[in-house]
Amino acid sequence: MTAFPKTSALMKRGTDFLGSEYAILCGAMSWVSERGLVSAISNAGGFGVIACGAMTPELLDTEIAATKALTAKPFGVNLITMHPQLFDLIDICAKHGVTHVVLAGGIPPKGSVEAIKAFGAKVIVFAPTLALAKKLLRSGGDALVVEGMEAGGHIGPVSTSVLAQEFLPELSEDHLVFVAGGIGRGEAIAGYLEMGAVGVQLGTRFACATESIAHPNFKKAFFRANARDAVASVQVDPRLPVIPVRALKNKGTEEFTAKQREVAGLLDSEGLEMMEAQLQIEHYWAGALRRAVIDGDVENGSLMAGQSVGMVKAEEPVADIIAELMTQCEAALARR
Ligand SMILES: Cc1cc2nc3c(=O)[nH]c(=O)nc-3n(C[C@H](O)[C@H](O)[C@H](O)COP(=O)(O)O)c2cc1C
Repeated sequence: MTAFPKTSALMKRGTDFLGSEYAILCGAMSWVSERGLVSAISNAGGFGVIACGAMTPELLDTEIAATKALTAKPFGVNLITMHPQLFDLIDICAKHGVTHVVLAGGIPPKGSVEAIKAFGAKVIVFAPTLALAKKLLRSGGDALVVEGMEAGGHIGPVSTSVLAQEFLPELSEDHLVFVAGGIGRGEAIAGYLEMGAVGVQLGTRFACATESIAHPNFKKAFFRANARDAVASVQVDPRLPVIPVRALKNKGTEEFTAKQREVAGLLDSEGLEMMEAQLQIEHYWAGALRRAVIDGDVENGSLMAGQSVGMVKAEEPVADIIAELMTQCEAALARR
């Protein structure tokens, strides 16, 4: 007998797919989503996802092994499609029998979805448009995350509420769709479940959990911030299409503008390839996020955060956050 009967019923397809108690994913957050947070989320009944980010295959190997040592519950691994060693990373996932791989950061390269399915794992994809979502689900994607621009980290241009209205009526009957971006409370989860989502993904709400290794300065910045402080980066050169990143405004926001100018300059003077230019930008983000999350440099580092940051007020254990979200969701559904 579950304590959340209405919510659990609406999450059933999601929990069957994930193998977790609740269909609440903690979205992968580079540097933050390591063994500690991932195992805590999964042990609390949610679904943790390791952020591979720019890790080497050796580091991912160690991280997966360490996570397995901390939880017997299912968890996933998030791989960035742009990673130059994507296929080696997939081999590491295969070696460990990872059950769910999330492919983020762009259209999966040829053969990657097949390589993951070949060792029996489920593939979770992101899609910015309905047409692309249908294509990815036709070509092997087992589930989809629809993520709106309220989210922290790399974002698209459209809000979660609009994407949910576009994607869910079309896809939810035949496909598994999780909604992400801007979710801070269980009432919002109830709304998306009623629209046909099988679960949700949150990042910002979990980034400062007690079990998160984020530096105390990083956490303090989150506790102080309001929704309006989490702003999207701007593209300064039309030739260099940078994916916007939502983060708390600080000195690092300005440094990113300078970095873009530098890379755009290299495009001219050294004939830098566009793909390489974009990789340089991504390396910049990985380094800047590390400075804030690990070193606690909240001035110059990147404080990636979604607009729900205003609802993050204090350090709380993951289990309490999940219990609160589930309780709020259940109460909202009971009131209907
Ligand atoms: C600090 C931070 C780092 C993130 N890093 C990644 C990442 O490496 N890969 C990824 O796919 N998403 C990343 N995200 C997005 C999250 O996985 C998640 O989808 C998002 O946070 C959900 O929206 P919310 O922040 O509004 O809850 C990051 C988000 C944050 C806040």
